[in-house]
Amino acid sequence: MSGEHAFAAFDLSGRTAVVTGAASGIGRATAILLARAGANLVLGDVQESGLGGAAAEVKEAGAGVAQLRTDVSSAADVEALVERAVAEFGRLDVMANIAGVLSDSRVAELEEADLDRILAVNLKGVFFGCRAAVRAMGEGPGSIVNMASSAAFAPYPTLSAYSASKAGVVALTRSVASEVARRRIRVNAIAPGMVDTPMVLGRGRAVGEDERLDPERREAALAAARERNPLGIAGRPEDIAHAVLFLASDASRYMTGQVLHPNGGAPMV
Ligand SMILES: NC(=O)c1ccc[n+]([C@@H]2O[C@H](COP(=O)([O-])OP(=O)(O)OC[C@H]3O[C@@H](n4cnc5c(N)ncnc54)[C@H](O)[C@@H]3O)[C@@H](O)[C@H]2O)c1
Repeated sequence: MSGEHAFAAFDLSGRTAVVTGAASGIGRATAILLARAGANLVLGDVQESGLGGAAAEVKEAGAGVAQLRTDVSSAADVEALVERAVAEFGRLDVMANIAGVLSDSRVAELEEADLDRILAVNLKGVFFGCRAAVRAMGEGPGSIVNMASSAAFAPYPTLSAYSASKAGVVALTRSVASEVARRRIRVNAIAPGMVDTPMVLGRGRAVGEDERLDPERREAALAAARERNPLGIAGRPEDIAHAVLFLASDASRYMTGQVLHPNGGAPMV
């Protein structure tokens, strides 16, 4: 430790990280940052076109990279993604379960099929990611980082299914963390407030690219976030990626079963 660079504990050189939801937003920013920290990356997402762009950026950062179309609601897909990491780079050190979907609907109008979809992606998807990672990490060490949300902690109208799925992620994180701690596999979660990504601007509905990229719409959403937030700023994907890097690396070696709250100082209500 003495004489080491202050950033040495954040160094991921020689390690392998799997990131789900890597085609867009927080997952993409995380993949690029982990690559810059030295890790080899295996990227999974349902959105194949976005995956290619993310993989190119990861490569530019100098990392080894593989990509696989992955639907995290399929246990077989998630197992295949983790197997790919082991086949390609010989090991799994970091599993970042970031893929997620948002539903924006009043409880009276929420259809059972939508509820099932939200739980399948946001909760079962993270469960499958934890299970596959724990199997691949064996006797450890390793780090699993799960993406929860401030919606797991703060009441937020029209997000009932989403909030329940994210509260499930927090409980799942704590349970798995306690189960695998002796193997030096750490399991932590992050509960961001609003972050400027396509998910927020799209509000989970099927929206066209034009609507997502509409500058007025985007500015209105960001202004509302800034107003709600004591720091007066909206979150960026990179803000959350930094929290993932901390939890993925030895800088957080004394932490497990915890939740970080990058949210500008308050829940987003
Ligand atoms: N943006 C926010 O304000 C915010 C706040 C709190 C938590 N989060 C969480 O952060 C995570 C990332 O969201 P984001 O804001 O970057 O949104 P995003 O829409 O930009 O990215 C989500 C990614 O997940 C992928 N995905 C969706 N369903 C999938 C599936 N079944 N299998 C594999 N991949 C799938 C999408 O294709 C997309 O690339 C999500 O879990 C989200 O709930 C976001």
